[in-house]
Amino acid sequence: MRDVTKRQLLPSRQFTLPKEAYDCLEGILIPPKELRARIREMSLDIMRDYADKDLYALAILKGAIPFFTDLLFNSEMILQFDYGCRESSSYHGTQSGDLQMGQFNVEEVSGKDVLIVEDILDTGKTLLGHLAALGDKPRSVKIAVLLEKRLLDKQGNLIQKPVAADYVGFTIPNLFVVGYGLDYNNKYRYLQSIGVLKKEYYS
Ligand code: IMP
Ligand code: MG
Repeated sequence: MRDVTKRQLLPSRQFTLPKEAYDCLEGILIPPKELRARIREMSLDIMRDYADKDLYALAILKGAIPFFTDLLFNSEMILQFDYGCRESSSYHGTQSGDLQMGQFNVEEVSGKDVLIVEDILDTGKTLLGHLAALGDKPRSVKIAVLLEKRLLDKQGNLIQKPVAADYVGFTIPNLFVVGYGLDYNNKYRYLQSIGVLKKEYYS
């Protein structure tokens, strides 16, 4: 895990972005090179940990797609694995709502070592739902997330989450981020970096 919770944002103007992105971003939290380098490290960890396992990687759509692809395909990873995906949505704008999950045949992961691949762990509600839906069919279940938000209560104490990820790319502050698969109302997924949405977008 790399902690970027105290990091100063980089000005968006340092990056080549479409105009709509300059308009909505406060700044860049994680630039493309650093993202790629950290994902490569995570790939190597997974390769080591799953060398003698029956890996089934489950990507949570749509946000996890770029991360999933770089983690398992665009890496030097030499690993035998199967994969599938499941749709999931809970956010409306920057607000968390009820979790909705798409269809998935749980028999497909029966006896497998499942690695759930998700873009971000915020409250944990989404991943808790996916874990529950898999039940006890898999032989093992682990979680890989690109980002985890550090959530603090009013006294500044760390809020415990109902799920913990086994592989975390970056720990980020409690801000709404977009890019590299993460969206705001289905926009900005295409950005190559992780950027912070301007405060005026938060309701
Ligand atoms: P959780 O259920 O609260 O852990 O939230 C996880 C889900 O909410 C992820 O799958 C994301 O789709 C979405 N999400 C949470 N925080 C952000 C964010 O900062 N930007 C974009 N999507 C987010
Ligand atoms: Mg998502």
